[in-house]
Amino acid sequence: MASNKPILVVAGVGNGSGTGAATALEFSKAGYRVALIARNADHLKTTADGIVASGGDAASFPVTQYDYPSIQAAFASVKSHWPASPIRAAVWNAGHGVWKPFLSLTEAEVKSSVDTNIVAAFAFARSSILAFQENDIDEKSGKRGVLIFTGATASLRGNKTTSAFAAGKFGLRALSQSLNKEFGSQNIHVAHAIIDGGILTDRSREFRGKSDPKWVENEDVRLSPESIAKSYLYLANQDRSAWTWELDLRPAHETW
Ligand SMILES: NC(=O)c1ccc[n+]([C@@H]2O[C@H](COP(=O)([O-])OP(=O)(O)OC[C@H]3O[C@@H](n4cnc5c(N)ncnc54)[C@H](OP(=O)(O)O)[C@@H]3O)[C@@H](O)[C@H]2O)c1
Repeated sequence: MASNKPILVVAGVGNGSGTGAATALEFSKAGYRVALIARNADHLKTTADGIVASGGDAASFPVTQYDYPSIQAAFASVKSHWPASPIRAAVWNAGHGVWKPFLSLTEAEVKSSVDTNIVAAFAFARSSILAFQENDIDEKSGKRGVLIFTGATASLRGNKTTSAFAAGKFGLRALSQSLNKEFGSQNIHVAHAIIDGGILTDRSREFRGKSDPKWVENEDVRLSPESIAKSYLYLANQDRSAWTWELDLRPAHETW
């Protein structure tokens, strides 16, 4: 195994059933080492073990919470874990969802949405870009690195119970667009994916699947994490002459 294989850093891996873990596996199959950042060390280890069992190279970097110093410390640990490998891809997938009528929201909930969806994402972006700036321009893609953010319908549209969540996701989208403009001239590709529909994860399978089992079975109506992961790899493989800032993904029968 070459010692300088590129690294993907992905933050937000949940229990291993969603987009974060699927992205890690997809990039691992494409030859990346994968660094997994999330809050639950046991879940992270299970996900990393699964990738290693499939022939990949993965390591866990648990954080106690998504905040600026924790994300910076996690990146420092990734670099010392694989000192010879360049960080070439980074995916910010963590998202703090709050769905409540505006007058029921507490200050703590508003702050949590901003802290995870914006402040920690700034730290992740800063660490990713500093790492990319150390890289040579890749001959094939013409890039130093790619940074992808996972958005949601609430990145574009507020709704009755999404004031805090949408404020966070709008902020994330604004960050990604600003970085795309600022760092494109350094051959750093920054992209944002609007996930415009429900993703099938263990959590949604339990909550949504109970009242609507057809939603779980019917691939026309929900997104599969593996399909999103393939799109993220596609973004990473785009070359500098035609790259995407914003991708939006929805299932065939989405009615939003
Ligand atoms: N599921 C959907 O239907 C859906 C739809 C549109 C967009 N999205 C977006 O997709 C991303 C998540 O991907 P996924 O749904 O496929 O699941 P996933 O990969 O399992 O990731 C779940 C993420 O949510 C984080 N999270 C959950 N509750 C949180 C909280 N209270 N505070 C901070 N972080 C919290 C988890 O953190 P840990 O990893 O630390 O546990 C993890 O990062 C998010 O950015 C979300 O906004 C999801």
